[in-house]
Amino acid sequence: MSRLAIIGGTGLTQLAELKIIKREQISTPYGTPSAEFVIGELNNQKEVIFLARHGNPHSIAPHKINYRANIWGLKQFGVTQIIAVAAVGGITSEMVPAHIAIPDQIIDYSYGRKHTFFEDENDPVTHIDFSYPYSQALRSGLIHAARQAGLSISPIGTYGCTQGPRLETAAEIKRMEQDGCDLVGMTGMPEAALAKELGIDYAAVGVVANWAAGKTEGEITMAEIEQNLHIGMANTAKLLKVFNDLAQ
Ligand code: HPA
Repeated sequence: MSRLAIIGGTGLTQLAELKIIKREQISTPYGTPSAEFVIGELNNQKEVIFLARHGNPHSIAPHKINYRANIWGLKQFGVTQIIAVAAVGGITSEMVPAHIAIPDQIIDYSYGRKHTFFEDENDPVTHIDFSYPYSQALRSGLIHAARQAGLSISPIGTYGCTQGPRLETAAEIKRMEQDGCDLVGMTGMPEAALAKELGIDYAAVGVVANWAAGKTEGEITMAEIEQNLHIGMANTAKLLKVFNDLAQ
């Protein structure tokens, strides 16, 4: 039986629609997860586990998130599917602020993060296949749910993961665009790879918070990010509700 977890990013610290059954704070061999695991029901009888990636309240920067503790912890709860929601910057023309994309590829520009569960001397040398980093079945489910919900989304896109916490330079975004990135975020990796190492199906919902650096005149402001995320996350909540209803 499948068990779904939702990881909420910036702008989604809580899932308002979740009828909370219990909250559990756990520790793992890799340390403490970002927040307590919130177990609840999303508009039907099917349980969902929610985790706030940046803590609740939002206080953990992308490069400081204990991705291993988060993913390991979800595995301990029997999670088989993760939908990871993340705020992103829009690089290519379709990725306008407040838009939603379901990426199908990743380029990882992050560094220095604990990015594997296979690093002890006694661990076998393991190379997971990561050709297609996201679960195709989960992505199809999300795309179908978006159609049912009447939401216009981008069904593909390449997510570039930067280290942060600063935003990028205009030249970095130009290079990322030449590399083939449509979206830029700071938390997609190593999260996706760690889920794959543990055999958990994983898909991402990118919510565009702003045009990436150099794509518009002027500075990127927090006020603009918050305003776009307000709209984008409300649509994401609709998408998750329909996804979960259809998963029954
Ligand atoms: N860059 C990286 N991460 C982001 C951005 C951005 O422009 N916006 C939201 N998350």
